[in-house]
Amino acid sequence: MLNYNLLIKNDNRLELHLPDAEKLSPIYADFCTPSFKYRLAKGGGRRQPLARAIGLKQNATPLVFDATAGLGRDGFILAALGCQVIMCEQSPIIHALLEDGLRRALQDPELEATARRIVLYCGNSQEILPQIGLSQRPDVVYLDPMFPHRHKSALVKKEMRALRAVVGDDLGSADLLETSLKESGRRVVCKRPAQAIFLSGPSPNFAITTPKHRFDVYLILRC
Ligand SMILES: C[S@@+](CC[C@H](N)C(=O)[O-])C[C@H]1O[C@@H](n2cnc3c(N)ncnc32)[C@H](O)[C@@H]1O
Repeated sequence: MLNYNLLIKNDNRLELHLPDAEKLSPIYADFCTPSFKYRLAKGGGRRQPLARAIGLKQNATPLVFDATAGLGRDGFILAALGCQVIMCEQSPIIHALLEDGLRRALQDPELEATARRIVLYCGNSQEILPQIGLSQRPDVVYLDPMFPHRHKSALVKKEMRALRAVVGDDLGSADLLETSLKESGRRVVCKRPAQAIFLSGPSPNFAITTPKHRFDVYLILRC
């Protein structure tokens, strides 16, 4: 009976196994699966909601700071669309899983070019983003904080429940939004569940909605 978190290297992949009592499958970052490659190929390209929220114009390759990298899916999709992506993850355990997923992506000829557009940091974006901004201000800061779900609803994906079991809820999201608005060059995008209220702070300029999610877009006007 496993009653603690365990990082295991399984078939060349780093996996986090959670205590049996959580009844959750292991979590890992894997960009090399057929289903994720299908998502990259058929996800709608630069017309998909995530790309429109980021403001991806034809041929543009903005620098995106993914301040809440998690298992890296959204950031990897943006890199596949041509963005330069700086990912930052505060949890050393989730960072280790993500680093391992990116390492394997670099060894996959179909994904190598995308993985090369990604740089990964471990730490709190509140501290790392202002440091990065000193040398290269990101065009876009992307936020996807954990949303506090009170119930273990079947609607909340098992993977998200596992992630929450490791990192807890994000309680500093409003502060992170404030820092992002200061540090971003053109816009801040915050992914929220479709029915969620805005993060506290200024209201977004507009939102792009999907059946499950909403991307709140904050435009930066600098003189
Ligand atoms: C919902 S997940 C992000 C999922 C990610 N967008 C994806 O596509 O896989 C949120 C992650 O943000 C991380 N996080 C929250 N606040 C952070 C901060 N201030 N700095 C760095 N990471 C943070 C959490 O540890 C968690 O792993």
